[in-house]
Amino acid sequence: MIDLVATARSFFAPGKGILAADESVASATKRLAAYGIGAGEEIRRQFRDLFLNAPGAEEYLSGVILFSETLLQKGDDKKLFPDSLSARGIAPGIKVDLGTEPFPTSPNELITQGLLDLPARLSEYKKQGAVFTKWRAVVRIDGDQLPTASAIHENAKRLASYAKEVQSAGLVPILEPEVLYEGKHSRARSREVLAETFGTLFSVLAEHSVDPASVILKTAMALSGKESGKQDAPDEVAEDTLTVLMETVPKQIAGIVFLSGGQTPDQATENLAALARAARAMNARWPLTFCYARALQEEALALWQGKEENVPAAREAFIKRLAKVSAALS
Ligand code: 13P
Repeated sequence: MIDLVATARSFFAPGKGILAADESVASATKRLAAYGIGAGEEIRRQFRDLFLNAPGAEEYLSGVILFSETLLQKGDDKKLFPDSLSARGIAPGIKVDLGTEPFPTSPNELITQGLLDLPARLSEYKKQGAVFTKWRAVVRIDGDQLPTASAIHENAKRLASYAKEVQSAGLVPILEPEVLYEGKHSRARSREVLAETFGTLFSVLAEHSVDPASVILKTAMALSGKESGKQDAPDEVAEDTLTVLMETVPKQIAGIVFLSGGQTPDQATENLAALARAARAMNARWPLTFCYARALQEEALALWQGKEENVPAAREAFIKRLAKVSAALS
């Protein structure tokens, strides 16, 4: 039987982190279109191959989160992506939520769906090579109005049900209640919402008897909203983020990973470096690392443009960014 706690901890090996390559078909299509790249299953396969089969990525990656389509696709080497990742010591994971829907009693907020057929899907994903999973909930800040306590609570209940199912299927759960960077809010408001989100989440997880030891929390950093006109200094971000985590996250969980959330690659790298420094200074009780999508992929996508001849340059940019993000941890 797989040791869930050891697997969960393995993502935090020194200098290593996770690539989130789990954009749904709709999100991947939108992401590629932003770089003038076309749509369709084959171009998405090439998009995945660009990153998943980049030589040297294994030096920096302990895991990759995939989308269900990718579990069944092959790289240019004709090997299934989960097999070639595993062979290089990178654990394949899978996004298992099925996206969001409006919350009926507060329709400007979103609730994550995907619990109904989850056990059957988990057993398929496991057969296809996945060893860990992710479920994302979205928390939108709008002044003092949003989020509502009831939307935070409903998303927390679903995260808890997800975590229970995943643990009993023998897989590691990553719980991602993403407090969005989009908005005009202050960093203080972001910090307040993070505190409320984690406070609710961890009390609901305890009520549902979720074992914290194999739980990984994936979170945004405490940031002033992207449209606030304010750019936070990395030390401010690190202090606020870690303070709220220390106050609300139980010491028993396996670790904490950060999403990039729309920060530039440099911003996500510098903030991670400040977080790692502050975590050492504050004697943080859990390990920390990155679990980025955009901050790791952006520069490579701009160079790739969907063209085979640009693959080497795009992969070089990806590996350079990985090396910087990895160095930020030490
Ligand atoms: P970003 O790093 O682009 O925010 O993506 C991480 C992720 O998995 C969001 O769900």
